[in-house]
Amino acid sequence: MKQYLTSCHHFLHGADYNPEQWIKYPAILDEDIQFMKKAHCNVVSLGIFSWSLLEPEEGVYDFAFFDQVVEKLTNNGIQIILATPSGARPRWLAEKYPEVLRVGTDGQKQQYGLRHNHCFTSPVYREKVRNINRRIAERYQDQKNIILWHISNEYGGECHCELCQQAFRDWLREKYHNDLCKLNDAWWTGFWSHTVTDWQQIHSPAATGEPDDVLPGLFLDWKEFVTYQTTSFMQEEIAAVKEFTPQIPVTTNFMGPYQHLDYNYMRNYVDVISWDCYPTWHSERGDVIEAYSIAFAHDLHRGLKQKPFLLMESTPSNTNWFDICKLKRPGMHRLSSIQAVAHGSDSVQYFQWRKGRGGMEKFHGAVIDHNGKAEGRVFEDVKNLGILLERIDEIAGGRTNAQAAVVYDYRNRWAIEDAAGFQNVDKKYKRTCINHYKEFWKRGINVDVIDLSHDLSQYKILVLPMLYSIAEKDIKKIEEYTANGGTVIATYITGYVNETDLCYLGGFPGGKLKDVFGLVADEIDSLNPGDRNTVRFHDSQYEAVDYCELITPVTAEPLAFYCSDFYRGKAAALRNQYKQGTAYYIGCRDSGELLHAFYDDVIKNSSLRHYELPYGVTIHSRETEEYEYLFVENYTTQRVEIGMSEAVRDLENDELLPENATVAIDGYGVRVLARPLRKKA
Ligand code: GAL
Repeated sequence: MKQYLTSCHHFLHGADYNPEQWIKYPAILDEDIQFMKKAHCNVVSLGIFSWSLLEPEEGVYDFAFFDQVVEKLTNNGIQIILATPSGARPRWLAEKYPEVLRVGTDGQKQQYGLRHNHCFTSPVYREKVRNINRRIAERYQDQKNIILWHISNEYGGECHCELCQQAFRDWLREKYHNDLCKLNDAWWTGFWSHTVTDWQQIHSPAATGEPDDVLPGLFLDWKEFVTYQTTSFMQEEIAAVKEFTPQIPVTTNFMGPYQHLDYNYMRNYVDVISWDCYPTWHSERGDVIEAYSIAFAHDLHRGLKQKPFLLMESTPSNTNWFDICKLKRPGMHRLSSIQAVAHGSDSVQYFQWRKGRGGMEKFHGAVIDHNGKAEGRVFEDVKNLGILLERIDEIAGGRTNAQAAVVYDYRNRWAIEDAAGFQNVDKKYKRTCINHYKEFWKRGINVDVIDLSHDLSQYKILVLPMLYSIAEKDIKKIEEYTANGGTVIATYITGYVNETDLCYLGGFPGGKLKDVFGLVADEIDSLNPGDRNTVRFHDSQYEAVDYCELITPVTAEPLAFYCSDFYRGKAAALRNQYKQGTAYYIGCRDSGELLHAFYDDVIKNSSLRHYELPYGVTIHSRETEEYEYLFVENYTTQRVEIGMSEAVRDLENDELLPENATVAIDGYGVRVLARPLRKKA
């Protein structure tokens, strides 16, 4: 049997499978399995929402149907990613133990309903989840085709019940070493007379109490606690299944740059990173913007462990929850799926295998539609993708060699979005990170999207867009990275505050960052939506929007200058030589062209391999011991031709392309090319 996710890798191709919805249609199971084989699917995610099937009453377990499903999948060579069912609880549980229901920021307890909405602190919920997880793990522990645990589903949200309040207070006591003075200092509680004199006074940010932005220190600690508490819940789930199946790796499906949990903390507790990806292709903002925004999210998930990840969910056609649920245009399913692979995914999986008859997801795209047939456009797309994945299977497990990194920091996002100031409608932190990332994407440069908890030594270029909040330890890390020869790029609103939102004193950016960048950012002007400044860079003029920082160079050399307003003539972008490295600082936001020109300079002066590519076309690569694999992706509707300087082999049709060959890529097309890294023995 092929090995998946263990010593030797193969691509996974499959879907979330919910046979419990079809229990009254006994013919469906066999039919589904035949269709899976026809679709070249080799895996299903099973049991994500099966709790009420498996434990219909408290302590009463019924595995009869599941046994049948597992057996049939096994006999037909389909791998199983087995889920713990905590993402949606049975009614009996909420009825008998109301403490498992969440309390909102308004203090209101929820009624039974929805999913993904349990209290992470509730000892009862933890116990009931441990019990069901143990039962499932015990039952299927010897099943060789269970390759991965899918722990819960899309953890998220928060609960404000009394149990959570007490857990928050206990967590704070530990964090501040039982010293209220330390907490008061960190939260700057002298503000509006908010001094905390007893731990019991502390309450989570609340709609009817302390809003998020009055004491940002409280808000940031609460966010950190929510990540901690969710992770501790997840750890209990994992411990329960590992008790029986220590050999099976675990994952939980993340949600992209979802802003409410710090995945850079959670990553430490799972074996494999996976995520659910739902691009809005063909929307009015255009496919190219969507392509690099999604690429950013893929690179973020790969960056979490700097290793291949799994695409756990994607839609084979449309979703049912966008404002406008468009179909994927011909070619887009293949392109979008291979995009994930190009960025490090070892799977293409779907939500969902078969459309349900009822419930709110009945019109969500699926491999098998309500017509119940293994045919038609969507099915063919899925099948062809399965065939393609088999042809390019040698890439599975391949690493990404990324020498540039863009920092996207969840905690910084909480801090900057919460800060009252600058522009309060939308500070556009995530979009700014993506806009910098795009400059690498369009030049075909691999990028890791990381936070500063990672080792930085492998990167030649490190980009810190709007890194407003930086802990002192991270300032040190940036300083060392630059001193040792790295190139660092920062923007306006960098290094203003520490990790509890206390401003750095003595000028921004804080501490040693002033030396690294060789400047002081004295003030920042926020522009009205219709306001523009002009920036001169290399004798060309560019448009500045939203933010213009007023900067005093110390050792830095100005590269660009404002052309209007009272700060006309002041530096808008600067470069500083810091020990062995170089530090760039961009003081304004621009509408795109300035970043393009700026990165042209930086990248040309670096040793990063890059390409000149037509608009909407990109190249990403993965490596195994012997080959580098190039994925040439075209997100436009026009056919393009790219010259390849070296000889390559097209993996799909095994065609050898000689040196200097021209490679044609159809609209919404993708080619997968292999280049030997060293001769095979
Ligand atoms: C995901 C979720 C799935 C399904 C899907 C629909 O967020 O994990 O269960 O609801 O969305 O797009």
